[in-house]
Amino acid sequence: MRAVAMFPAEKKIRLVERPAPVVKSADQVRLRMLEVGVCGTDHEIARFEYGTPPAGEPYLVIGHESLGQVVEVGGDVTELKAGDLVVTTVRRPCNRPECRPCQHRRPDYCVTGAYTERGIKGLHGFMTEEVVDEARNMHLVPPAIADVAVLTEPLTIAEKALDELAPVLTRMPWIDPTKEEKRGLNAVVLGAGPVGLLGALALLVRGFDTWVYSREDAKSARAAWIESVGGHYIQSSAVPVGQLGKQVGNVDLILEATGSAALSTAALPSIGANGVMILTGVPGGVAEVSIDAQRIMRDLVLENQLIYGTVNAGPRAFQHAIEDLAKFEARWPKQVRALITGRFPPENIGDVLAGKDAIKSVIKFSDASLGGRRG
Ligand code: BGC
Ligand code: ZN
Repeated sequence: MRAVAMFPAEKKIRLVERPAPVVKSADQVRLRMLEVGVCGTDHEIARFEYGTPPAGEPYLVIGHESLGQVVEVGGDVTELKAGDLVVTTVRRPCNRPECRPCQHRRPDYCVTGAYTERGIKGLHGFMTEEVVDEARNMHLVPPAIADVAVLTEPLTIAEKALDELAPVLTRMPWIDPTKEEKRGLNAVVLGAGPVGLLGALALLVRGFDTWVYSREDAKSARAAWIESVGGHYIQSSAVPVGQLGKQVGNVDLILEATGSAALSTAALPSIGANGVMILTGVPGGVAEVSIDAQRIMRDLVLENQLIYGTVNAGPRAFQHAIEDLAKFEARWPKQVRALITGRFPPENIGDVLAGKDAIKSVIKFSDASLGGRRG
């Protein structure tokens, strides 16, 4: 079967032929891959700045944003059957006895750093025709969202961030934590890439007044997309990122989705009273920035501010992403589909990685077999 592989020594990305994987234990499931999304992490891997092949192997099969269809299940698997659509999680536990998060099957909180990630770190990924994994790493997707389900994994970034935010918001007794309705709270998303746009939708369905701050022109298609879902757009050249409050009012939440340390530090003075800033980007290289540390510390203390980083994603975030995608589809079907800007065959991976203007490009391996889906 074909797979898209990154060869770190040769600095090449190309298609390889591999033997198809087989179900080896009763808890495993074999999937036919339907679609695999390409993201910033894949671009970094393709620039040979990130990504590690499995120990002793010359290449890494890339791809971690997946949608697959069940072909075969092991004897102990009762929750999935042939024809089901599934999204598979990315991180796997480090299996060290001293790592309580991994023992608890929450490798997104791994403390040893020895976790693995399919398609990124130490394990082959999903950009191939067939994949085998354990059923417990898979999440069932309703057929109604099949068209957009490949967006589940990138959406888990915001979902985990918002799962972690929920207990923080309970510190404000004037906000009813039982309600999804957060109207009156202002959220600013930094960056209008797929993570930022999906994050904006996740904030909008929770009732936040949502702003997206990005480079694109205020008359661009992305700005129009944001207005069309009920968000507001701020073109970065119009407002310094450290002065967001002037436009927004109290900035209760900043969701960073740019991967730029310079932009993120420049945004710190914008965090409002009792505000939270969540960082999701993983910057490469080195950047020295100068900050007014006295002011930042003063604001953090006197305004009860909180800054945290978050990496996706545990099972809850995948579950919530699937539920939210269904809500997005019901509310904004055109806009959600518009996030997937192109579907390409695997042999076009070079062009896809070289392309710049896409929101989310997807490598398509096969169509869902509808007969199976009905079963
Ligand atoms: C993936 C995460 C991963 C992170 C760092 C992201 O693109 O979605 O699963 O942990 O990169 O490798
Ligand atoms: Zn990704």
